[in-house]
Amino acid sequence: MLPPILQNLRIPVVGSPMFIVSNPDLVIAQCKAGIVGSFPALNAREKDGEPIMLEAWLTRITEELDRHNQANPDQPAAPFAVNQIVHRSNARLERDIEICHRYKVPIWITSLGARKEVNDAAHDCGGISLHDIINNKFARKAIEKGANGLIAVAAGAGGHAGPQSPFALIQEIREWFDGPLLLSGAIATGDAVLAAQAMGADLAYIGSPFIATTEANAQPEYKQMIVESGAMDIVTSSLFTGVSGNYLAPSIRNAGLDPEALERADASSMDFGQGASKPKAWSTIWGCGQGIGAVSEVLPAAELVDRLANEYAAARQRLAL
Ligand SMILES: Cc1cc2nc3c(=O)[nH]c(=O)nc-3n(C[C@H](O)[C@H](O)[C@H](O)COP(=O)(O)O)c2cc1C
Repeated sequence: MLPPILQNLRIPVVGSPMFIVSNPDLVIAQCKAGIVGSFPALNAREKDGEPIMLEAWLTRITEELDRHNQANPDQPAAPFAVNQIVHRSNARLERDIEICHRYKVPIWITSLGARKEVNDAAHDCGGISLHDIINNKFARKAIEKGANGLIAVAAGAGGHAGPQSPFALIQEIREWFDGPLLLSGAIATGDAVLAAQAMGADLAYIGSPFIATTEANAQPEYKQMIVESGAMDIVTSSLFTGVSGNYLAPSIRNAGLDPEALERADASSMDFGQGASKPKAWSTIWGCGQGIGAVSEVLPAAELVDRLANEYAAARQRLAL
């Protein structure tokens, strides 16, 4: 049984948090279109001495969604989520947790480390916490630490993807866990959202297709590269952040590197102290999942959600559900 907050979405989809790319415009558009929108807390950055950007973003998102809900009581916006990178090098974590607690963020997504205090803070302000994992061992650990639900990040996902098939990952987790389970990795059509549910997940977690939306904070060339690329253009490498991730090969070539001959890096080089591992990894070497063959144009996020919703309904009908 899904927690009430995840029950009334237009389609069972969470727009996943993406470093640099996710901004309030995208989150608000996703939520108004009826799916959960999210952003990494680290995307909200201020210069020294300036007002705290995370507070400004949370104020804007909550106020705009409240206004929308008052004007559209029959079609209220979906809730939003904030992603916390729970890694020792994230020096902002304590501060960001305090802010999200104060703003009563409804859905907390945690990555790279399961910590009880973060789950406790989420629950204490009435929220739920979802932790992303790449294998069954980490999944058990996350639930032991108090996460309400899991995001299974399978092979082919944008960003720090896992190595496992979604079928294997979901099946192993479902043997012991009947709580909220999201599937991440190369989901880019409504058909695939339904497939994720057939496999045992409750919701699909979709990132890369939302890079090619008008609202996303990405260079036009990045959006266009997604439109023009397919699964064969995605390469997996640990070189840029210290952890295995998926990237657009043409962006690696544009940076003067050979995507076929990338060195390996070790995990100790991960550093979120400045807000990211190596900023270049995301600003010039572009992260992306394998599902983007389904992306044929840059659209407003609401139109992408419309497409997913139409495909989802058609797929259900095709299977006579
Ligand atoms: C450019 C990019 C940046 C990402 N940054 C983050 C991040 O900061 N935090 C996080 O939890 N996941 C991050 N992810 C992973 C996504 O949240 C999600 O797992 C993934 O995009 C889903 O796979 P898909 O892109 O194939 O849909 C990122 C993904 C991409 C493509």
